[in-house]
Amino acid sequence: MTASRTALVTGANQGLGRALVEELAARMAPHDRVLLTGRDPDRVQAAAAAVAAGQAIARVEGRVLDVRDGDAITDLAAELGEIDIVFSNATSRMSPHDDPADQVDAVAETSNLATTRMLRAFAPRLRAGGRLIVVASALGTLDKLDHQVVGRFAAAATSLDAVDALVEEWRHAVHDRRAEEEGFGTWLNIPSKVAQVAAVRAVAQERRANDLAQDRLVMALCPGLIDTDASRPWFEDMSQAQTPAEAASWPVDLALAGTFDPAFYGELVQFARVLPWETGIPVPHTATT
Ligand SMILES: NC(=O)c1ccc[n+]([C@@H]2O[C@H](COP(=O)([O-])OP(=O)(O)OC[C@H]3O[C@@H](n4cnc5c(N)ncnc54)[C@H](OP(=O)(O)O)[C@@H]3O)[C@@H](O)[C@H]2O)c1
Repeated sequence: MTASRTALVTGANQGLGRALVEELAARMAPHDRVLLTGRDPDRVQAAAAAVAAGQAIARVEGRVLDVRDGDAITDLAAELGEIDIVFSNATSRMSPHDDPADQVDAVAETSNLATTRMLRAFAPRLRAGGRLIVVASALGTLDKLDHQVVGRFAAAATSLDAVDALVEEWRHAVHDRRAEEEGFGTWLNIPSKVAQVAAVRAVAQERRANDLAQDRLVMALCPGLIDTDASRPWFEDMSQAQTPAEAASWPVDLALAGTFDPAFYGELVQFARVLPWETGIPVPHTATT
């Protein structure tokens, strides 16, 4: 019997996170466990029970993890000791109709400060062959930014502290109504996703040689358009969107495969294709803010 493995997914009581748990649990072994984590105890328990009652083979454990609580992340990492698979997936919903100043704290804390905290806490605990995948998006490349701030995000991609500091500058600029004139723009998702990829790149810069020697992968994921409550308000045409289950399939293949393309390490990857940090791919959207 092979050693039992542990996988953890944040923001997993619905949407892509839940589909990742379902897919992992269906494909891992009975002696493995998948931690379905989320911020609300009732939603977490209901989702874990539903996934366990479905196609799950591995044990599914619901755990409360509010990723805006930095101590909770470090405590859970310490409790687990070592880990095999982490999907840092949680996100704070945004609405095209709401004032960015009202949303930026939740976005910055859920998608950015939590991401750097997850990387700090879990990258050093990855077992040989482990995977730490930050769910970002096609908006996470430098070409999506205004030219005024491209250099700042590129420069921050060298340390997690620098990424956090830039996120704080962006957050203050949004609150002070300076974001547009300073080049951060009004669509929060862009600086947020670029900063997530910057954080992955910062960690990769430090860990690449050791991680690749041990078959460990740290990577940002662009899952493609998925039909969830989070994406629907932003796109007029969802006819091409994947279901969450479809979107979870390739990332779980990657998480469970014995090998991976080393070109993925530290990069933003969509369907086995690296999206270049500087140029990315064009993304249509209907954002009005
Ligand atoms: N949908 C798309 O088309 C698309 C495209 C590209 C990338 N993505 C990325 O894919 C990921 C998942 O997106 P999604 O569409 O599945 O979003 P979603 O349906 O809104 O799910 C987000 C999950 O995050 C959880 N969450 C929110 N705040 C949290 C916190 N403080 N602590 C822990 N969990 C928290 C939510 O829990 P509650 O139920 O408690 O709110 C929910 O389970 C995100 O990183 C998103 O940016 C999505």
